[in-house]
Amino acid sequence: MKIRISLVICVVLLGFLGVCQGGNLRKNFYRNSCPQAEDIIKNKTQQHVSSNPDLPAKLLRMHFHDCFVRGCDASVLLSSTASNTAERDAIPNLSLAGFDVIDDIKAAVEAKCPKTVSCADILTLATRDAVSVQFNKPLWKVLTGRRDGTVSKSSEALINIPAPFFNFTQLKQSFASKGLTLHDLVVLTGAHTIGVGHCNLFSNRLYNFTGKGDQDPSLDPTYAAFLKTKCKSLSDTTTRVEMDPDSSSNFDSHYYPNLLQKKGLFQSDAALLTNEQSSDIASELVNQNKFFTEFAQSMKRMGAIGVLTGSHGEIRNKCSVVN
Ligand code: HEM
Ligand SMILES: *[C@@H]1O[C@H](CO)[C@@H](O)[C@H](O)[C@H]1NC(C)=O
Ligand SMILES: *[C@@H]1O[C@H](CO)[C@@H](O)[C@H](O)[C@H]1NC(C)=O
Ligand SMILES: *[C@@H]1O[C@H](CO)[C@@H](O)[C@H](O)[C@H]1NC(C)=O
Ligand SMILES: *[C@@H]1O[C@H](CO)[C@@H](O)[C@H](O)[C@H]1NC(C)=O
Repeated sequence: MKIRISLVICVVLLGFLGVCQGGNLRKNFYRNSCPQAEDIIKNKTQQHVSSNPDLPAKLLRMHFHDCFVRGCDASVLLSSTASNTAERDAIPNLSLAGFDVIDDIKAAVEAKCPKTVSCADILTLATRDAVSVQFNKPLWKVLTGRRDGTVSKSSEALINIPAPFFNFTQLKQSFASKGLTLHDLVVLTGAHTIGVGHCNLFSNRLYNFTGKGDQDPSLDPTYAAFLKTKCKSLSDTTTRVEMDPDSSSNFDSHYYPNLLQKKGLFQSDAALLTNEQSSDIASELVNQNKFFTEFAQSMKRMGAIGVLTGSHGEIRNKCSVVN
């Protein structure tokens, strides 16, 4: 009853403001149609994480890329075809990985409940479960009921995925275009507390920032010297470095103290300090409990971007191809 009332308030009072985006998603959508779905996904994800510690970062980034292109509709999982280059083969796909894991989870779910659980929900749940492994409990709640899209274009990934060279204005605009706030931007970028980045996406900051062989003054010089020992030249496109040095496999709030010490890896990280409001938010998020609470809320909002529900889209049989 309480839930129904708040839902009504949400829809009636706030819905038109877009505050309740994803209002068609529900808690435990598969309760009746596939009661084991969330457990199967969790068990499988945990198995995969135990043999591949990089997986939480891979899935978290994949989920972000999915949601920012055509909404969270698993379009990122579709393979290219003879006549179409898909999102996963677009330039910002560096280090996208985990496709095989999603396929494996999907197969396990299909074996129990054929044609019932969407790839979009599987990716969203598996992301949460992978990041949560280190905590032994779910770090945030995931609503379900997403359906799968049928279109995936590399050109749309190029347009919609923010680049590591973006300045503050561009980042804010990118998130706003998805219905996300400045606060969401600063909170969600905290995802860079896990995982790695390729040298060529930031080495201009080390070697040729303004085209005069110079260094980015907004990057801590000691940290820049360290990065130069890893990324030896502008042409290095293969070496990867931890985004949150020393704790890059731990999901924690260390991204923020690093950022505040001018040790954010990308220009897009450093850009968060160029605006007073966003740099204030970054200072608040140093507090880990605060970060976890806010991250949970922002992930819920990101996970609701442009979702297909009801009779829209389809439930894909295999995550890499449309039915
Ligand atoms: C604010 C704009 C953002 C930009 C410009 C950005 C850019 C990037 C870039 C360039 C990489 C490195 C890719 C590589 O070299 O392999 C990366 C990695 C990553 N990003 Fe972001 N990102 C942004 C926001 C986000 C968000 C919102 C999330 C998730 C909530 C996220 C999660 C990740 C993760 C987990 C990795 C590590 C991937 C790995 O270890 O393979 N990022 N990001
Ligand atoms: C998931 O794993 C737990 C613990 O190993 C087990 O008790 C449970 O039966 C598994 N559930 C499914 C649906 O596989
Ligand atoms: C990224 O796209 C290229 C083609 O542009 C493709 O060869 C490569 O396999 C893709 N990487 C991933 C991880 O899908
Ligand atoms: C951000 O980048 C855009 C596009 O390059 C540029 O037009 C704008 O002036 C930049 N904004 C700031 C504040 O540097
Ligand atoms: C640095 O950038 C300038 C201007 O884009 C370019 O002419 C020069 O070749 C670059 N230097 C290196 C080492 O790539």
